[in-house]
Amino acid sequence: MAALRTMAAAMAAVALVGNVQATERPLPPCLDPFQPFVYSGCFGETGGNQLLPYRSQSPSDDMTVEKCVAECKGNGYRYAGLVYYGVCYCGQTVNGPQVDEGQCSFPCNGNKTEMCGGNSIFSVYQDPTFLPAEDVTIEDYDPLGCWTDDSSMGRALVYRQDKVDGASLTTEKCLQACRDGGFPFAGTEFGGECYCGVVIGNGTNAAPTGDCNMPCNGNSSQTCGGRSRLNLFVAHELLSLEPCGYEPPVSSSTTLPPSSTSSSTSSTYPPITSTTTTTSTSKTPATTTSSSACVSTTVVPPTCEWKCGKWCSSPLPDWDDDKTCKGAWSNCALQVASCFKHAGWPDVVDCFDFGDWCADISQYCNSKPSGGCRKSDFFGKKPPKGHPNKPPTTITITTTCKPTTTPPATTSKPPATTTTSSTTKCPIPTPTNICTQPSNPHYGYGPGKPVGGIEMPVVTCNDLADDWPAYPFKQYTDLDSRKCKKYPRSGCSNACADACKEQYEDCVDVYAEGCKTKPGRHRGREVTSKNYFEFAAGSASKAEKRSFRWNDSWESAVVKCKAQYVDCLKVNKGVTGAKKCPGFGEW
Ligand SMILES: *[C@@H]1O[C@H](CO)[C@@H](O)[C@H](O)[C@H]1NC(C)=O
Ligand SMILES: *[C@@H]1O[C@H](CO)[C@@H](O)[C@H](O)[C@H]1NC(C)=O
Ligand SMILES: *[C@@H]1O[C@H](CO)[C@@H](O)[C@H](O)[C@H]1NC(C)=O
Ligand SMILES: *[C@@H]1O[C@H](CO)[C@@H](O)[C@H](O)[C@H]1NC(C)=O
Repeated sequence: MAALRTMAAAMAAVALVGNVQATERPLPPCLDPFQPFVYSGCFGETGGNQLLPYRSQSPSDDMTVEKCVAECKGNGYRYAGLVYYGVCYCGQTVNGPQVDEGQCSFPCNGNKTEMCGGNSIFSVYQDPTFLPAEDVTIEDYDPLGCWTDDSSMGRALVYRQDKVDGASLTTEKCLQACRDGGFPFAGTEFGGECYCGVVIGNGTNAAPTGDCNMPCNGNSSQTCGGRSRLNLFVAHELLSLEPCGYEPPVSSSTTLPPSSTSSSTSSTYPPITSTTTTTSTSKTPATTTSSSACVSTTVVPPTCEWKCGKWCSSPLPDWDDDKTCKGAWSNCALQVASCFKHAGWPDVVDCFDFGDWCADISQYCNSKPSGGCRKSDFFGKKPPKGHPNKPPTTITITTTCKPTTTPPATTSKPPATTTTSSTTKCPIPTPTNICTQPSNPHYGYGPGKPVGGIEMPVVTCNDLADDWPAYPFKQYTDLDSRKCKKYPRSGCSNACADACKEQYEDCVDVYAEGCKTKPGRHRGREVTSKNYFEFAAGSASKAEKRSFRWNDSWESAVVKCKAQYVDCLKVNKGVTGAKKCPGFGEW
């Protein structure tokens, strides 16, 4: 509990909402386990503002804190508030001042040991899975295109900003109003209407771009939706990192109990990989102690370490020596493909920086830092970018990890108050791809110099013990290992075909997109990237910068991406994965 980032005071802001019809088609309460809300204090309404705009339709005569919180969670809100013995409200911001705790003195109808505010006084609870919102600006809203707003099931975005002047509406004014209200979704419609929401209403569908054809009343060079059509925007920073139904990245069979105070990610370090394992005649028994010991790291709460657009890296395992440092590097390098896949244009270009950072870790591991090889030392020198938060608290537990036996955990630092989910994921494979980057002198690509600098995702040993021996291989394109595609030994060429396709898609989405002349922001730019797949063995010069000039037209970029794809399928046709990943943890 102590490790939870409790945002002490509730965020107060007055949303520009007048006449709210927020009760259209509410979503059901959240029935899945979720991190409990944290009590924020007692708040009062002033000046006729609604403290929280969404009023629950659930009866108040048996209301409890748990019921109200579940309803707010299910509907995507950050705050839950209870007033007058059990009327439940939800909202993104708390539009009123904190008042003396003693003013929240009415017991809840459904549980007399809980407080349900007072007369126009609210007991407010906060979902701890949101990021702090202070730094979010209208620049953080990404356009989602044109969407319908003509469903019989209610509006796409529920909160109409009727205090924003329709005659002078611009996109910026609408985004600002939604941002002030803490709303992740914003939309403009019919030239002069502005809507905000925490979720997109049921029945909202993508519409042809041409449907959004009405100029904004306040700036005719912008489009403000159309007839029953919204220009929709989202600020991911204002959405919960763990919405209802969220599953922690690694939980194996021991799922967290609903009332647990922490979710946990676990990941592990590589075994002692002695590089002298080439031609040994007498095989050492498979169960060497070196490959069975590993360290799992519990991250509280699981959050973003490095942020690129819509993507957040999964926190690297803690390290304190060369070996565990190498594990963190592997973990980092295996995350890069997921960045390219998920970050979204244009921030995806920053994924190159993330790859460089991974390469820096490998250099760091080998640099014999005077202060000792530690994650905190490295983070001090090269802090993660794009994210305002400090690295999350990590708790390290040493366990014995073998696929079949239950780990007799030798706990070195027992976590004080957190629940740890035991995991069968161990250790981290090195990011050595079984698939080959194709070469083509005509187009200029080859190993170490893929089109646009965008590498193939890694296909290597599966890091989940449960999958052995049926699926020894895995394509690392998702932070959640369970969501990555896994392959049997006979499926290696399919795995590489998938990796070729993934690279092709990233090539088109990132490189060709960057070569478009229209915005002209990236065309002609030089992208540099270090080789993050290579562990900088002993020397600091290994991770040299490679540079790629994005100087194709969109058409010729796509031609190159396609050519690389076709070549990629060709060279990887016969991949068998023979001798690779012979047993769990042996790689
Ligand atoms: C009533 O609330 C208290 C305090 O939150 C809780 O410990 C208890 O389990 C609740 N009782 C019921 C019946 O929900
Ligand atoms: C959305 O609408 C569909 C189709 O009418 C329905 O099946 C589904 O339950 C609705 N979802 C919610 C959350 O209301
Ligand atoms: C009108 O919108 C265009 C396009 O977004 C922008 O470049 C311009 O600065 C805006 N003009 C005013 C007066 O806000
Ligand atoms: C693009 O850049 C590369 C590397 O800088 C260069 O070799 C090539 O000639 C350039 N192509 C065009 C069309 O400018």
